[in-house]
Amino acid sequence: MATVPRQHITQRKIAEHVQRLGELYPPIRLDSVDRTIKRPDLVARKFGHVIDYLARVELEVDRNVLELLCLLPDLDDTNKTFYADVWQPQEIQHGLVLDRLTQDLGRPPATPHLEVSFGIKILGALATLKPVQDIARLLYFLTGASTERQAVLTYNQFNDALKELGETAISETIITPIKQQEPGHFAFYQMSATAMVQDKVLKPWQLFVARVLRERSYHLVGTNSMKQYTADVGGVMVDLGFDADLQGYSREVGRVETRLLWAHKQGMDFPPYILKALRESVDLYRERLERGLKLA
Ligand SMILES: [Fe+2]
Ligand SMILES: [Fe+2]
Repeated sequence: MATVPRQHITQRKIAEHVQRLGELYPPIRLDSVDRTIKRPDLVARKFGHVIDYLARVELEVDRNVLELLCLLPDLDDTNKTFYADVWQPQEIQHGLVLDRLTQDLGRPPATPHLEVSFGIKILGALATLKPVQDIARLLYFLTGASTERQAVLTYNQFNDALKELGETAISETIITPIKQQEPGHFAFYQMSATAMVQDKVLKPWQLFVARVLRERSYHLVGTNSMKQYTADVGGVMVDLGFDADLQGYSREVGRVETRLLWAHKQGMDFPPYILKALRESVDLYRERLERGLKLA
């Protein structure tokens, strides 16, 4: 069913990757940041919502860890090291640094959602069954690959925009260090998902269930399946200019799952549910803007 990847991903390779990430990228320290903002009003007007969104989502890493423990209680050492020693410590600093930037711009602090949803708790209960656990694990890795890829694209684009504005301190001491850490997260999830498919951990019926669940539950990074956040991420897409090529963005974000879940669908460029989620978010944002204009 799935394509055989070009390179065999061994558990050892994943473990070495995790170790390297920990050594190369210590969490960003708050006192390493240069808080100079040349034109705070302009930055706030153009990108205030982008920074708000990113700060909140990064700070929600603590809930992501609780979800992980709820869904996948039997993690191996590599996965434990990754989330406890690399991923969480790095992401929480991204959140803290960005949250302080938000406040330096005169905006209210982020209000992260830290409660594990009922849906996840139910899934967690079901996932005690081994076959379900494996499906949940693959979906978890695919979600990680997709959301980290979105992070990579977003920080790249945001960094370019800040450099264009001449905001070198924000670019060089906040966004560049964050941006350096995201590709390693993506690579971890990408390799982990690939290894599962390559080693045929899932039987065909489990892959089928994974596809159905993925199609039904796909959402963009940080929306928590809530309308307000879905519109917010639509605003981030528009503010950073991604709305000009949603198909291209879908291709980038969906590359891993297109290869691992949908290889049998010859010629599928990306799974349609990704483009649908993107369109929905941009539409919700535009509707909200129009409503706002009407009220004003
Ligand atoms: Fe991050
Ligand atoms: Fe990340």
